[in-house]
Amino acid sequence: MVGLVPLKTGVVIKSFIANDGRKVLLRTLKWEDLDDMMEFINALVEEGAEIFANQKVTREHEVEWLARQMVEVEKGNRFNLSAVVDGKLITNSSITRGTGYSEHVGILAIAIRDGYREIGIGTEMMNKLISQAESMGLRMLTLTVFSTNNRARHVYEKVGFREVGCIPKELYKDGKYIDHVWMVKELTSNP
Ligand SMILES: CC(C)(COP(=O)(O)OP(=O)(O)OC[C@H]1O[C@@H](n2cnc3c(N)ncnc32)[C@H](O)[C@@H]1OP(=O)(O)O)[C@@H](O)C(=O)NCCC(=O)NCCS
Repeated sequence: MVGLVPLKTGVVIKSFIANDGRKVLLRTLKWEDLDDMMEFINALVEEGAEIFANQKVTREHEVEWLARQMVEVEKGNRFNLSAVVDGKLITNSSITRGTGYSEHVGILAIAIRDGYREIGIGTEMMNKLISQAESMGLRMLTLTVFSTNNRARHVYEKVGFREVGCIPKELYKDGKYIDHVWMVKELTSNP
């Protein structure tokens, strides 16, 4: 199987200045992020963000979720990248290695908290996720996105993803059916 570069938890990847002048620290997730992560996902759910989750989580659920993340990170099957601004965790993103005949494929997910969007953080994180996927030996990244999420689709296309299809009406939100779009990026460094 392709080579793997597992990254430890809490490792600083880079810092940069966002388009609004705020300093952003990108680092891998760590156990101490538990409460911040719970607040983060619940804020997205409350907002009605165009993400898959639609139910708030309990602390008990979050403990189990984070524990599972840590196990998969340790096995080299997952990479979690977070961003911190002014000491506050404002994003999470991940690449999850496929299984079976899809071990060469990484599934990408990303979400940024309201108030920190459209200042370049998503694009910066996507580029970091792509380079990490390459160093994990992955040959392809896939993701899914609500067809109505034009901002996300724009960012994904900007970093080289292309739409390959959609499942019509797979999502139902706020009384409307929404198409679920699949996007792919081939990683040329690992042909
Ligand atoms: C989608 C998301 C990750 C993008 O990250 P971000 O930090 O906001 O994105 P950036 O600031 O790097 O870039 C935003 C780009 O979208 C563009 N944009 C903003 N609104 C847009 C719209 N309605 N349609 C098209 N493009 C739009 C901006 O002009 C900018 O493009 P440019 O860099 O070419 O000028 C982030 O907004 C987010 O997490 N949203 C909520 C949760 C979510 O939708 N997650 C994705 C689930 S698949």
